[in-house]
Order: sequence, then C-alpha cells, then structure tokens
Amino acid sequence: MTGRIVRVSALLALGAIAGALVGGGPAAATALKAPSADPAACAKCHPRAAKEVAPTKHETALQSVQKTAGAGDACLKCHSTDYLLAPEGRKPSVKTARFGVTCTACHFDHQAKEGIDDRRPPLCEDCHSGGQMQLGQAPHHPQNEMMLGTSPPVTGVPKMPSMFGKKDCNGCHMPVIDGKRYHDFSVLMPDKQDYSCGIRGCHEGQGAKYTKLARDWRAQTAKALAEVKALLEAKKAKSQSEAYKVALFNCQFVESDRSQGVHNFPFAMKLLEVAKAKLAAL
Ligand code: HEC
Ligand code: HEC
Ligand code: HEC
Ligand code: HEC
Ligand code: HEC
Repeated sequence: MTGRIVRVSALLALGAIAGALVGGGPAAATALKAPSADPAACAKCHPRAAKEVAPTKHETALQSVQKTAGAGDACLKCHSTDYLLAPEGRKPSVKTARFGVTCTACHFDHQAKEGIDDRRPPLCEDCHSGGQMQLGQAPHHPQNEMMLGTSPPVTGVPKMPSMFGKKDCNGCHMPVIDGKRYHDFSVLMPDKQDYSCGIRGCHEGQGAKYTKLARDWRAQTAKALAEVKALLEAKKAKSQSEAYKVALFNCQFVESDRSQGVHNFPFAMKLLEVAKAKLAAL
C-alpha cells in the first residue's frame, strides 16, 4: 500500500514539474479534467474490462438504492461512483446520481492525470463491511468481518480468522488466469471450474480438486442454514428471548456474507452450531 502511495505522489510530482516546464504552473493544474465516473470513458481503450464489469451488480449498484423506498444520500457512498468522486457540497443525490460502482470507484483516472496507480480507496473491504453490527438488526454484507472471523461478542463465537486471511478479496474474485485478469467478480463460474482455486500462488495445478472442496463447503453451509431456519420457524413463539435473537443474528450473519461458508468455513459453521444449540435449548 505504502509503495502505491509513493508511486502516485511521485507521478503527481512529475506532473507538476512537467506542467511547470511547459509554462502551465497552477493554471494548468486547474485545467485538468475531473475524474470520470462514466465507464464509457475507459471502455474505448479497455474494452474487455468494460464488457466484463457491465453485467455485474457493481455497475447496477445505483439502481438498487434508487428502487429502495426511503433510501438516503448516505447509501451512495458505497453505491455510486459520481457521488464518491464529487467534492463535498457538490455531491449528487439519490435522484441525480448517474453511475453505480464503475471503473473509477476502484481505479484512478489516468486520462484525468490522476496517475496510473491501480487502486483508489475505498477498497473492497471498506464497502463490503457490516460496520457497527448489533443484536436485533440484520447485518448487511459482512464479508470483511467473515474473513477476519470477528462478530459482536453477543454471538458467543470467539475470533476465528479465515485461513484465507492473507489473500486479498481480488485474489479470488479477480483472478489472473492465463495472463488474463477477470473483472466479472465471480469465483466459481462454470467456465472457470478447473481453475478458480488453481491459480498461481494458490492451488496451482489442483484447481478442480479445490473448487470441488469449495462447493462442498457451500453445500454443508446451505444444509446447516436450512436447519437453523427450520428451528427459527418452529420456535417463533420465543422470538423475544435473547437466545432467539442471537440465533437469528448468527443465521443472518452467515447468510448475508453470501459466500455460503467459503470465506471462512469453520467460523460460519461455528456461528450456525451456536444458533442451533440456543434454539434447541429454548
Ligand atoms: C486513450 C486510451 C485510454 C483510455 C481512455 C484509458 N486508458 Fe487506462 N490504460 C491505457 C494504456 C495504454 C495503459 C497501459 C497499458 C498496459 O500497461 O497494459 C493503461 C493502463 C491502465 C491501468 C493499469 C495500470 C497499472 O497499474 O498497470 C488501469 C487500471 C487503467 N488503465 C484504468 C483506466 C480507467 C479507469 C480509465 C477510464 C477512467 C482508463 N484507464 C482510460 C489507455 C487508456
Ligand atoms: C470493484 C473494483 C473494480 C472495478 C469496478 C474495476 N476494476 Fe479494474 N481492477 C481492479 C483490481 C483490484 C485490479 C487488479 C489490480 C492489481 O493488480 O493490484 C484491476 C485491474 C485492472 C487493470 C489492469 C490490467 C489487468 O488486466 O490486470 C485494468 C486495465 C483495469 N482494471 C481497468 C478497469 C476498467 C476499464 C474498469 C471499468 C470498466 C474497471 N477496471 C473496473 C478493480 C476494479
Ligand atoms: C464503492 C464500494 C465498493 C467497492 C470498493 C467494492 N464493492 Fe463490491 N459491491 C458493492 C456494491 C454496492 C455491490 C452490490 C450492488 C447491488 O447489489 O446493487 C457489490 C457487489 C459485489 C459482488 C457481487 C457481484 C455480482 O455481480 O453478483 C462481488 C463479488 C463484489 N462486490 C466483490 C468486490 C471486490 C472483490 C471488490 C474489490 C476488488 C469490491 N467488490 C469493491 C460495493 C463495492
Ligand atoms: C458500507 C457500504 C454500503 C452502504 C453505506 C450501503 N450499502 Fe447497500 N450494499 C453494499 C454492498 C457491499 C452490497 C453487496 C452485498 C452483497 O452482495 O453481499 C450492497 C447491496 C445492496 C442491495 C442489494 C442486495 C440486497 O440486500 O437486496 C440493496 C438493495 C442495497 N444495498 C441498498 C442499500 C441502501 C438503501 C442503502 C442506504 C440505506 C445502502 N445499501 C447502503 C454496501 C453498502
Ligand atoms: C478464498 C477465495 C475468496 C476470498 C479470499 C474472498 N472470496 Fe468472496 N467468495 C468466494 C467464493 C467461492 C464465493 C461464492 C460465490 C462465487 O463462486 O462467486 C464468494 C462470494 C462472495 C460474494 C457474494 C457473491 C454473490 O454472487 O452474491 C461477495 C459479495 C464476496 N464474495 C465478496 C468478497 C470480499 C469483499 C472479499 C474480501 C473481504 C472476499 N469476497 C474474499 C471466494 C473468496
């Protein structure tokens, strides 16, 4: 990370020197284009990435907010790139925002001379975080917490970091296979079946075997989730008890991570085990 910051500031400094040499100075700096949130600005030179991102939920993230009744502008910090890029005081609203999570949510715009470093914050885990999670409120997208193996103390499950703790989200979700970087964010796609887990630095040459393991984890998690949900239904009369609320929270935590256990299988299973025990004792 530090290396990247150094790289950007070095480029910015170079830009300033170049500007000064052509007699531009500060005036030239203010004439720089603002970074664009429109993927069309990148598509002409990066057609493959643009084609892959287009059908994903990142690109349509703005619509999700716009079709949620009562959604406020605070939702846009994770759902709209033009909102992210606009300076304070000039932020678009839910109605006027135009783009979802597009290229420049994650990348600097080198066409706007922002530098050619590859990432801009927020990073995956900043948006994909459950934030301040509390009992009695359904958690949302706690992928970061699932990977870190942390949950609020009330779940009764101690910290259990994922065995993938040192892998970036993009290591799995944007793998480089045969020299091609995928931008579709899916992992276990049928056409990547033999490779998704078998990329360099992971289980090279054994992709099929480990992809099968991931599918087994998903099946086991789905089964445990179904059992907990059946118990939740059966014990509905006790829904005001602390034990019921903990069980419900643990179930929603695992479900809303959406990897069905792959991100941290032992942790997900432990959360569901605790949920089952709490409900059985009610
Ligand atoms: C006029 C053509 C052009 C446009 C428009 C353009 N790029 Fe690029 N981009 C390039 C070229 C050329 C490279 C270097 C190619 C390489 O190294 O493979 C590059 C490299 C990159 C890289 C890789 C940088 C790295 O660290 O290796 C990223 C990320 C990137 N562009 C993002 C964008 C985004 C986001 C946009 C739209 C805001 C955009 N580009 C618009 C031509 C363009
Ligand atoms: C959700 C975040 C995200 C979005 C949206 C996104 N990218 Fe990327 N992109 C990444 C990451 C992460 C990498 C890998 C960077 C690294 O190697 O550290 C990457 C790599 C790249 C590269 C480097 C070349 C390569 O194949 O490795 C280019 C070019 C690029 N992206 C262009 C785009 C363009 C154009 C768009 C929009 C159509 C886009 N990206 C949308 C996260 C994103
Ligand atoms: C600016 C916030 C933001 C960043 C940064 C971000 N995401 Fe997302 N991501 C979202 C939102 C919002 C959605 C869901 C949108 C919806 O459903 O409307 C999403 C959806 C996804 C999905 C489901 C995609 C699909 O089409 O089914 C995956 C997988 C994902 N993100 C992974 C990543 C990874 C990996 C990174 C980092 C390279 C990343 N995200 C960076 C906000 C973000
Ligand atoms: C901290 C970042 C963040 C904020 C703030 C945020 N979201 Fe999201 N949202 C996400 C991510 C990440 C996803 C993708 C989750 C996934 O696929 O697991 C998502 C998915 C969604 C979805 C589609 C999936 C679903 O659960 O139906 C909707 C709708 C949504 N968000 C609405 C909203 C609304 C409305 C707000 C404001 C009240 C909001 N979001 C605020 C990050 C955020
Ligand atoms: C060890 C590989 C791995 C790592 C690391 C990883 N994921 Fe996943 N993730 C998966 C798999 C496998 C799935 C199951 C869905 C699939 O196959 O695409 C998944 C599912 C998801 C989904 C739900 C996608 C959907 O279709 O609804 C989101 C969102 C997500 N991951 C985000 C993240 C984020 C954010 C991080 C980093 C904090 C991360 N993942 C780290 C492998 C990984």
